[in-house]
Amino acid sequence: MAKVLVTSALPYINGIKHLGNLIGSMLSADVYARFMRAIGNEVLFICATDEHGTPAEIAAHEAGLPVAEYCREQHENQASIYRDFALSFDYFGRSSSPQNHELTNHFYHRLNDAGFIEERSIAQVYSIDDGRFLPDRYITGTCPHCGYENARGDQCENCTRLLEPTDLIDARSAISGSRNLEVRQTKHLFLKLTKLADRVEEWIDSRKDWPLLVSSIAKGWLKEGLQDRGITRDLKWGVPVDRPGFDGKVFYVWFDAPIEYIGATKEWADAAPPGENRDWKRWWYDADDVRYVEFMAKDNVPFHTVSFPATILGSGENWKLVDYIKGFSWLTFYGGKFSTSQKRGIFLDQALAEYPSDYWRYWLVANAPETDDSSFTFSGFAGVCNKDLADTFGNFVNRTLRFCSARFGDAVPAGGAPGEMEEELHDKLRHALTRYTICLEQMRLRNAAAELKELWTIGNVYIDRAAPWTHIKADRDRAAVILRTAINLIRLYSIVGSPIIPDTCAQLREALGVKISEAYWPLTMAAELRALPAGHKFQVPPPLFKKITPEEVADLSARYGGEEQAEAAA
Ligand code: MF3
Ligand code: ZN
Repeated sequence: MAKVLVTSALPYINGIKHLGNLIGSMLSADVYARFMRAIGNEVLFICATDEHGTPAEIAAHEAGLPVAEYCREQHENQASIYRDFALSFDYFGRSSSPQNHELTNHFYHRLNDAGFIEERSIAQVYSIDDGRFLPDRYITGTCPHCGYENARGDQCENCTRLLEPTDLIDARSAISGSRNLEVRQTKHLFLKLTKLADRVEEWIDSRKDWPLLVSSIAKGWLKEGLQDRGITRDLKWGVPVDRPGFDGKVFYVWFDAPIEYIGATKEWADAAPPGENRDWKRWWYDADDVRYVEFMAKDNVPFHTVSFPATILGSGENWKLVDYIKGFSWLTFYGGKFSTSQKRGIFLDQALAEYPSDYWRYWLVANAPETDDSSFTFSGFAGVCNKDLADTFGNFVNRTLRFCSARFGDAVPAGGAPGEMEEELHDKLRHALTRYTICLEQMRLRNAAAELKELWTIGNVYIDRAAPWTHIKADRDRAAVILRTAINLIRLYSIVGSPIIPDTCAQLREALGVKISEAYWPLTMAAELRALPAGHKFQVPPPLFKKITPEEVADLSARYGGEEQAEAAA
């Protein structure tokens, strides 16, 4: 049994996330964590809300709430949605936790003692009317590179270039709109990435097995040359900097956010029920026996391959560095951008109000933007759900159990012995299951979904060809063998589908009256196909999946603006 630490990039606190955020980190991580548990590893799966930074402050301001209260509410909202999506976090923490405050300052002190922190006086934009500095998103203006009029102080959304607030043309406060601004000197701390570059590069070079999407982004950053980065801000909300003369300043959100992976693990340990001992440090410190895997969208890769590792390497302590990074491209909405700020696309609360979680989980995994972007459309969604889930999987389960119930009653039928067809079925399943297992192990999500579907197809082809309904009169034993095999196949599906569609699989196990440990993965197919003996009782569940009609597709696309988006993108 190995120890596997899995983290998902931490979703920003402001607002409910969309489908792209889900597949780009949390859901993918969940599929992997579930699979790792199933094959018997000891897994710790950590996520949290990323609560600091100007977006949180601005959203709280818009909601008319104090930031702390806004974050508490939003954290609860997000946590409940993730529970409904069956994300199996061992802990879902908060980057504003006391644990993270402490760890963030710990890293700062270690870096400072090692000479990797420098205090500099820099020019920042100060708003006279607002009585405060305007870092990052608190300031908007025209991008000096592309002319986009609503560029933010940290980045232009249009051309994606990183900016400094002082770069903006015709700058104004995002709080009040005031143009009554001036440049003032203010003290800040810089992380000396220039001094850490060699060590970071050496470490990146040692990670030979990273996927291309990830290693090319990391190497691209190194090639451009690392710059020292400002890691503090003139803000009230955040982790206060434990340094004389830094009252009223906090760490930059991208400094404290990844440290929250460790912070949330400490939150998990501190939240242990009486009598349970949770050793957080065991996962993070001197933890060479832990395999650490991170999931994230590609815009996060630089922070996880360069900045955060620099923090860890510079600390001079033996904190765990990531072993493998699974990165994602973008999921688009009818070819355009999902956008939280412009409320474009379909958000997770809306998605759950339309269809159960497993429809979304399956579609997203089957269409994960792994090497290229992939596009969400309601007709594509309906097509995949109808064909794979309803016609292939759901139909197999229902016709098998209904037919058995009608002819033999609600128990696995007795009689007969498996023949050639069953042997052939066994071999096909064995190979498909091996391929599926390898895909999950290698985090090839699209391929994994395709192999799962192949397992369902094999079942359908078997029952079509074996056709128990043609034997029921003349050779009742033969019909019994086929149904017994098919019911055992349903049991197998209820196990192997769990990483991707856990709710449906749980529902099936309930109907079959079987209990399967979370740490179970089928190995010998012959035993699997005999697991439920004759006489074992079952219930016929209601149809597992509803078909999505063309009318529903038209209605969804009208309500969520799919067609308009398609036209705009064309
Ligand atoms: N909140 C960031 C995003 O959604 C991700 C932060 S990941 C962390 O892009 F590790 F830094 F927290
Ligand atoms: Zn621009």
